[in-house]
Amino acid sequence: MALSVEGKHALVTGAGSGISLAFARRLLQEGCSVVIGDLKLGVEAEALLKSYPHPPTARDTPSVVFHETDVTSWPQLASLFAAALATFPTLDIVVPGAGLYDPPWSSFWQPPHTATNPDSASRDRADSEPGHYAVLDVNLVAPIRMSQLAIGHWTKRKERGCIVHVGSVAGYLAEAASPLYFASKHGLHGFVRSLGDMRDELGIRVSCVAPGPANTGIWYQDPGRADEILQGCKWLTVEEIVHAMLELVIKDEYGNGTILEVTPGETRVVPMFNAQPPKPGAVHMPAMGAFHEKLFHDLRTKGLGV
Ligand SMILES: NC(=O)c1ccc[n+]([C@@H]2O[C@H](COP(=O)([O-])OP(=O)(O)OC[C@H]3O[C@@H](n4cnc5c(N)ncnc54)[C@H](O)[C@@H]3O)[C@@H](O)[C@H]2O)c1
Ligand SMILES: *[C@@H]1O[C@H](CO)[C@@H](O)[C@H](O)[C@H]1NC(C)=O
Repeated sequence: MALSVEGKHALVTGAGSGISLAFARRLLQEGCSVVIGDLKLGVEAEALLKSYPHPPTARDTPSVVFHETDVTSWPQLASLFAAALATFPTLDIVVPGAGLYDPPWSSFWQPPHTATNPDSASRDRADSEPGHYAVLDVNLVAPIRMSQLAIGHWTKRKERGCIVHVGSVAGYLAEAASPLYFASKHGLHGFVRSLGDMRDELGIRVSCVAPGPANTGIWYQDPGRADEILQGCKWLTVEEIVHAMLELVIKDEYGNGTILEVTPGETRVVPMFNAQPPKPGAVHMPAMGAFHEKLFHDLRTKGLGV
């Protein structure tokens, strides 16, 4: 049996651009209204807001609203949920899609700035108590906090709901270029699997899409590194990811902690144990080898300033 998103209401973070924006657009096309939480809207997101104005011009027409949100702020996340519930009568679908790919200002290889590490580009603070990394705050802590807020809402009202997380093949592969990013996605996948029983116990469906690389803005937060690592990369289309995310929402058999991998031309559910690797060539970033050599050369010769 397929569920329908028509007439429903979704909360999507990170939809100012990229994959989450494309998913928000798809939901609207299917008749589902959307609240977008992001730091800012890109040009395409601005256009989407104009296409589906709120309040809608006709009855039963979906609409989209933007609520400026930094997902690393828990008060701002609470305000985002409050705004969604003040705008629409129900909240049915939650997508914590905001993400960072180890930008220079929060990268394992750019440790927090200290007296012995004066040139680091990091904006993570060496003196912060508790210590934290922005990449983990955005990619892991915010999705966990959003899940808590959503589950609180649904269980108190005895309602059903659906959370689609945005994981990655980085949730089960490993990569020295961006250990924080990989750690965030491994953590997210473990979180999603841990909530898998909620589907059959409570009717709350939790799942995660795990795409390979797609050519979005996330790769260009460090333009120097992008030039080095992206040459020859095999890209997935954003449409393929969006299709898989919609399936996670509407297909009954998903939502019990499902990790749905998306690589060019195919999807598969990744089992918890004894999972096969992605098909040969499905995740292909041939320039990564040269990047590693340079990284390890620098670590051997200069060491890591901390
Ligand atoms: N592009 C890929 O290759 C790829 C592959 C697998 C998974 N993903 C995941 O997809 C998700 C979306 O990434 P994308 O590729 O669309 O990149 P993107 O950069 O186009 O979109 C990410 C969005 O998150 C927003 N964001 C970042 N920090 C934020 C914060 N503190 N508060 C609110 N919003 C914030 C950005 O403004 C941006 O609009 C991420 O979780 C990413 O890890 C991407
Ligand atoms: C999830 O449910 C499907 C069928 O709906 C089942 O095949 C699968 O084993 C379940 N997965 C887990 C982790 O329970």
